[in-house]
Amino acid sequence: MKATEAESARARDLRAQLHTHAHHYYVLDEPQIPDAQYDRMFQELQALEAAHPELQTPDSPTQRVGGRPLPQFESVRHAVPMLSIRTETDTGAQGAVAFDARVRRELGLNESDPALEYVAELKFDGLAMSLRYEDGVLVQAATRGDGELGEDVTQNIRTIGQIPLRLPSTAPPVLEVRGEVYMGRKDFEALNETQREKIAQGARNEKTFVNPRNAAAGAVRQLDPAVARRRPLSFFAYGLGEITPPGQGGPDFQTQFELLQTLAAWGFPVAREAQVVVGADALAAYHQRMGQARDALPFDIDGVVYKVNSLALQRQLGFVTREPRWAVAHKYPAQEQITAVLAIDVQVGRTGKLTPVAKLAPVFVGGVTVTNATLHNEDEARRKDVRVGDTVIVRRAGDVIPEIVGLVPPEPGAAPVARGPVFTMPAHCPVCGSTAVREEGEADHRCSGGLFCAAQRKQAILHYAQRRAVEIEGLGDKLVEQLVDAGVVRVLPDLYRLGVSALAALDRMAEKSARNIVEALEKSKQTTLPRFLFGLGIRHVGEATAKELARHFGKLDAVMDASEEDLLQVNDVGPIVARSIRTFFGQRHNREVVEQLRACGVRWPEGEPAPRTALPLSGKTFVITGTLPTLSREQAKEMIEAAGGKVAGSVSKKTDHLVAGAEAGSKLERAQELGVNVIDESQLQELLHGRA
Ligand code: IVH
Repeated sequence: MKATEAESARARDLRAQLHTHAHHYYVLDEPQIPDAQYDRMFQELQALEAAHPELQTPDSPTQRVGGRPLPQFESVRHAVPMLSIRTETDTGAQGAVAFDARVRRELGLNESDPALEYVAELKFDGLAMSLRYEDGVLVQAATRGDGELGEDVTQNIRTIGQIPLRLPSTAPPVLEVRGEVYMGRKDFEALNETQREKIAQGARNEKTFVNPRNAAAGAVRQLDPAVARRRPLSFFAYGLGEITPPGQGGPDFQTQFELLQTLAAWGFPVAREAQVVVGADALAAYHQRMGQARDALPFDIDGVVYKVNSLALQRQLGFVTREPRWAVAHKYPAQEQITAVLAIDVQVGRTGKLTPVAKLAPVFVGGVTVTNATLHNEDEARRKDVRVGDTVIVRRAGDVIPEIVGLVPPEPGAAPVARGPVFTMPAHCPVCGSTAVREEGEADHRCSGGLFCAAQRKQAILHYAQRRAVEIEGLGDKLVEQLVDAGVVRVLPDLYRLGVSALAALDRMAEKSARNIVEALEKSKQTTLPRFLFGLGIRHVGEATAKELARHFGKLDAVMDASEEDLLQVNDVGPIVARSIRTFFGQRHNREVVEQLRACGVRWPEGEPAPRTALPLSGKTFVITGTLPTLSREQAKEMIEAAGGKVAGSVSKKTDHLVAGAEAGSKLERAQELGVNVIDESQLQELLHGRA
């Protein structure tokens, strides 16, 4: 049935509102309405369009969601070729000075003429994209290709929230915006983390990505838009292709900077680091400043770009072959380098996670000398097949830990090098010798000597001392750091052996504060079994589980001696938790620590075992994602656990409910793929109160 006038007006109105809100959300990072309201409007529009397909327009926000997979991409001829730019590779000031001198010479300026004005921009490390808008609507997105012919990737580009599908009426009838599609570092890390999880869970066709640029390029050139949509891409605009000429109603830009500002006003993301600067020294200073800021940026850059600001001068300067004379790229040290693997060690993190780390021949990467790079986990080390003696590519970008990207194959005809054995994770923690465990479906191995392991000391003490556990008032990060580093505290019971004089001998510790700590330690000795059990830091034993264990067994010895079958009788305890508790108390050293704590006078009232009761959420597994309207994720987790439910970190077939809040990402998609029930906070509240 044809849409009524009211229905088409409503569709128009919804489209306009959704466009505005999407811009606030994706580009300005300042949402103006709650996500739920956006979703409601979105669904209303989807419903209208489904009922009346003639209401659907190519610029409708509903069209961001990918269509059918393509057999291959169509070729697109660029109306204005996509050029490359000359690159200055020296990392000092010379690149900027040489460029300014060349431009001045071409323009016939002498020393007495005033300094030239430039726009200095970041050189984003992604892939160049041309976005064509006709009458304000995105009609085509094309890759650079060979500069003349690119590929039509419109379907995939539509899925990028930051790219406007429609422009305000002030935009000219024909507009091609040139810019860079990239993947932010956090998004890249998260994507690879998800990939590693999927691989750990047995997915066969999944792989991790080498760097954000490859991940972005792979996503843009992904033939299935549904897959492309799951790769979080971003965009920065920095130039123009074809545009309606000023004579025919197009804008008459005078400068590159004005152009950038106008692009931002039309809704395109423009990097705020772009700046007008005057003269060669200012260009060099920009290069240096951005070089220092580089690590802290949320995305990769491989240099900066200088452009003559005046568009009239740009026209006068013109092009040589395929490069403009008015622009140059000035590079930074590469974020990827080649080096040799000298050894593969295993490091133990603060939480007991074991990580294979390659020891490298020192190499200068991304501005620093690197000698260690992570291989993440056993599967990853084996998949990349990195061995001692190999030549590898190491990547260091931002503050992220350097990682091994892959092997460099030996030169054809080169003499074969001796390679070490395939990497295998040791069966015991290299720091304390406790058993190393890898749980089903997890990518990481962990040390099970939580209380005893030197690598985990600080974490174990802080966990034990926190308010929700045994609570030692005043024993915070800094103090624990000092106590452990000074060798005063090696294991938990050492805390109770501290005297005022030992404490007062520490830096910045007055006698009064030392007395307070000793008092707090004394006070903490009187605790409860659930607090003590939680304070031990047994993996998967949160506060709620600790309470259940205490209630069920009544006494600590009963918990310590319980078999896996006994443990499975406890509310809230499944096979993974049961095994974890068994492994923990199976380590002689952990038991010794517990004995010593008791000997130091830590005590609690013990009770009688209590039978199992049915709690509203017993046997149910939840995953929480996104931002909930009123509860923090931690609060929601505690409430679920208190009601007998379990909270897992990732969605699997075993998940009963996904609690999704605002900005839910890959977990929500995974839940939808697996058909897991998705609920919001209010539905969770219903379940918690046994009403659903
Ligand atoms: S301007 C005619 N500005 O670097 C000048 N390019 O060869 C066209 N790039 O592949 C390029 N950031 O994708 C320009 N702020 C920026 C850029 C930038 C990154 C890329 C571009 C191109 C390469 C230059």
